[in-house]
Amino acid sequence: MAPRLWRTGLLLCFIHACLCLEEECVLGVVGRPVSLPCFYPDLLTSVNYSIVWRTDEEVVLRARFQRNKSVEELGANSASISEDAPLTGNFSLTLPAVESKAPKVTYSLFTLENQSAALCTVCLRVAARFSRPQLQREDAEMDGGETAFLCHSSGGFPEPRVHWLINDSDAPPEGSVRTVAESLPDSYLYNITSHLTVNISSSTRVSCTIENLSTMERETATSYGPFNPVMGKASDAMWIFSTALCAVVGIMVAVGVGYQIHLDRVSKRKKKDFQQHQRGYRRRNMVKEEREELETMKPDSKETDV
Ligand SMILES: *[C@@H]1O[C@H](CO)[C@@H](O)[C@H](O)[C@H]1NC(C)=O
Ligand SMILES: *[C@@H]1O[C@H](CO)[C@@H](O)[C@H](O)[C@H]1NC(C)=O
Ligand SMILES: *[C@@H]1O[C@H](CO)[C@@H](O)[C@H](O)[C@H]1NC(C)=O
Ligand SMILES: *[C@@H]1O[C@H](CO)[C@@H](O)[C@H](O)[C@H]1NC(C)=O
Ligand SMILES: *[C@@H]1O[C@H](CO)[C@@H](O)[C@H](O)[C@H]1NC(C)=O
Repeated sequence: MAPRLWRTGLLLCFIHACLCLEEECVLGVVGRPVSLPCFYPDLLTSVNYSIVWRTDEEVVLRARFQRNKSVEELGANSASISEDAPLTGNFSLTLPAVESKAPKVTYSLFTLENQSAALCTVCLRVAARFSRPQLQREDAEMDGGETAFLCHSSGGFPEPRVHWLINDSDAPPEGSVRTVAESLPDSYLYNITSHLTVNISSSTRVSCTIENLSTMERETATSYGPFNPVMGKASDAMWIFSTALCAVVGIMVAVGVGYQIHLDRVSKRKKKDFQQHQRGYRRRNMVKEEREELETMKPDSKETDV
C-alpha cells in the first residue's frame, strides 16, 4: 500500500512538474507578436556592455549600451527590446510575428562578453490557428443508406480535437468517426481531416468543431442538409446578419417611400384644398365685391330695402 501511494505521489509530482514546466513557457501564436519576459536589473550597474538574445540556432538580437543609453541595436526579423531597457532592466524580447519553424523554441539572454551563463531563459511554445473547417456532405443515393461527412481544416498546431454533433446534441455512434492528421511538408503544422459515416435523414443537422487546446479556439462548420450550403459558424452569423440587415433596410426603404407618397398626397391635397379655398375665397370675394359694387351702385335701393 505504502509504495503504491508513494509511487502515485511521485507520479503526481512528476505530472505537476511537467505542468509547471509547461506553464513557464510563453504561448505564441504563429503570425502574432509575442513578448518574452526578462528582467535583469543587475546589468544596470555596468557602464558599457552588450547583450545578445539568441536561440540555439541564431542570434535574434544584439544591443550595445553605454551609460544607460542604447548605442546600437541589431534585430533579426525586427525583433526588439524596450528602448529604456538600460534604465528599467526590462530586457524583454518582442517578436513582431511568431514563426512556424519549430513548435517550441528556447530564447536566452547573454552578455556579449560571457555567453556561458544565460541571464534569462524563456521558452516559447508555439501554436497555430486552424483554418475554418470545411464540411462536405455526401448523402446516400438510396434510402436507408449511410451519409458520409468530411470535415477538413488546415495549417494548425498542435493536433486538434475534433468534435462531431448530430442535431446539436448527440455524439456520433462509436466507430463512426475516423480522423487523420497530416503533417505539412517542411513544417510541424497539421492538416486535419475527419470522416463521419452515419445513418441519418437528409434533414438532420450535423456539425464538426475543431478545437485547438493550446489557443482554446473552437471553429465550427455545420451542415443543414443536402439543399443548404455548408457554412462555417462565422459565415453563418454573417449570413443571418446580412439577411437581417437587408430586411431592416428593405423595411426602412418601404416605410420611407410610403411616407414620401403619403407626404406627397397630403401636400397635393393641401395644395388642392388651398387652391380650391383660394378659388373659393376669390369667388367669394368676387361675389362680395360684386355685391358691394352693386350695393354701392344702388345705394338708394338698399335704403329702400331696409
Ligand atoms: C565599451 O566596451 C567595449 C568592449 O567591451 C570597448 O571596445 C569600448 O571601447 C568600450 N567603450 C567605452 C566608451 O568604454
Ligand atoms: C517590458 O517590456 C516589454 C516590451 O519590450 C513590454 O511589453 C512589457 O510590458 C514590459 N514590462 C513591464 C513590466 O514594464
Ligand atoms: C560567466 O558567468 C558565469 C556566471 O556568472 C561565471 O561563473 C563564469 O566564470 C563567467 N565566465 C567568464 C569567462 O567570465
Ligand atoms: C446503416 O444502415 C445500413 C442499411 O440500412 C446498415 O447496413 C448499416 O449497418 C447501418 N449502419 C449503422 C452505423 O447503423
Ligand atoms: C492541407 O490543406 C490545404 C488546404 O485545404 C491544402 O491546400 C494542402 O494541399 C493540404 N496539404 C496536405 C499535405 O495535405
